[in-house]
Amino acid sequence: MLLHLKSLLRPDELTTARSLLGDDAPWVDGRGSAGGQAVHEKNNEQLAQDSPQAARLRELVLAALQRDPVFFAAALPRRIFNPMFNRYRGGSNHYGAHIDGAVLQSRQPAQWVRTDLSCTLFLANPGDYDGGELVIHEPQGAQRVKLPAGDLVVYPGSTLHEVTPVTRGARIASFFWVESMVRSPEQRRLLLEMDMALVKLRARTDANAPELVQLTGTYHNLLRMWADT
Ligand code: NI
Repeated sequence: MLLHLKSLLRPDELTTARSLLGDDAPWVDGRGSAGGQAVHEKNNEQLAQDSPQAARLRELVLAALQRDPVFFAAALPRRIFNPMFNRYRGGSNHYGAHIDGAVLQSRQPAQWVRTDLSCTLFLANPGDYDGGELVIHEPQGAQRVKLPAGDLVVYPGSTLHEVTPVTRGARIASFFWVESMVRSPEQRRLLLEMDMALVKLRARTDANAPELVQLTGTYHNLLRMWADT
């Protein structure tokens, strides 16, 4: 399942993020953080993780995730890999087809994160660059994703994916992974469907209706059965 969250970042946050990711930011070769097969396919730049810019940007992205109820309902995050930032342009302009490592080491805080979900937060306006689509290959076909600045896409970490060459302008984005409390995609999907239906039901009926109280309890009992914390 592919989830598109619109306007995760507010316009002022987007402005801050872009100003921290300008030409004077400490961009380094992205191949430094790719392993195994992926390193041969990777050709982009990343923001140095130990820079003050990265620290500020990580906080900004994590705060935006915290306040988004749909992100929480869909991902049920147990651990979030420290958000990283990349840029595709000029001669460092693509990332060929690969599957992300299953377990990756996040630095802030230092922890291993199982990559149940992959996330890309678009930071450049789509009109400001050509190419640079995130292509997610699934059995039913490829999905091509190029979202407005500030929007987030969440997709299964198990999928083959790539970023097509940027032929004009620059594509900047944040990327990170989520280890979910609920490992099974099927269970996570059921919980999301139920949660979303409950939100709608609550808006149109008496919040104390016994059926609503029961169904909310059933949601939590399913989560209790399936969650690992
Ligand atoms: Ni990847």
